Amino acid sequence: TKDWNGIDQVVLRNPKGASARISLHGGQVCSWRNDQGEELLFTSSKAIFKPAKAMRGGIPICFPQFGNCGTPEQHGFVKNKIWTIDENPPLYMADLDGASSFVDLLYRSSEEDLKCWPYSFELRLRVSLRYDGDLILRSRVRNINGKPFAFSFAYHTHLVVSDISEVRIEGLETLDFLDNLCHKERFTEQGDAITFESEVDRVYLNTPNAIAILDHERKRTYVIRKEGLPDVVVWNPWEKKSKAMVDFGDEEYKQMVCVNGAALERPIMLKPGEEWRGKMKLTVVPSSFSLDL
Ligand code: BG6
Repeated sequence: TKDWNGIDQVVLRNPKGASARISLHGGQVCSWRNDQGEELLFTSSKAIFKPAKAMRGGIPICFPQFGNCGTPEQHGFVKNKIWTIDENPPLYMADLDGASSFVDLLYRSSEEDLKCWPYSFELRLRVSLRYDGDLILRSRVRNINGKPFAFSFAYHTHLVVSDISEVRIEGLETLDFLDNLCHKERFTEQGDAITFESEVDRVYLNTPNAIAILDHERKRTYVIRKEGLPDVVVWNPWEKKSKAMVDFGDEEYKQMVCVNGAALERPIMLKPGEEWRGKMKLTVVPSSFSLDL
């Protein structure tokens, strides 16, 4: 299919009726639906679908940096570029992850990109929708120039929730975090779960491989499992910041939370010819399921 700007999108479906939609703009997953057709990824009603910027919602791929103080390259430039479908993925991509359907996307840095970031790279993304409805994103970054480079990476994952005040995140308790609202000062999480009653913008460090996001009102739990992504960003803009963002509805902060698998605190170093791999798996289950994180 195509989006509003005529940019291709790939739709994945499984036999039970779950689906996912991925845009070639940024390799961004724009939609993930369960087998009842319910949307699980938040997209702002004010999202701007123009190639110069990532659409507000879904899962933008943040590379080669995350953050950067609101400059045009905030969260990296690949989310603003047009990727291609990789018809011949390398053989090492043979692991199918129990996928019912999948797509391989590729972004290879251009001459023009060297002005933003002076290193050549190949970034691959495989998005797989499994038979059980789970969504898996696998990324690979290869250094294809003569110099080493260091980068950060994040899957900027916008989840739909029914009421942010009723959401709890488990798996981050007792961990250290950098608070973006306090000049990245380091604190230690004291609560036994993360809850929301004001703006939150934190990078939790050295996190476990599985994090649960409990939506009490809708009686469902998201589980994020990850590899190669030690950090987790938790973000909700709350009331004031929501009003300041042009592509975000004033009240929409109540219906979303960002929980991003990321590699931020310690940038990843790649020598020429080396490759890094990262993976994130999203699952959604009824709250009654007992979770074995
Ligand atoms: C979050 C960051 O993940 O993304 C925040 O931690 C940032 O600091 C937010 O404000 C949204 O960023 P952007 O560039 O999409 O407005």
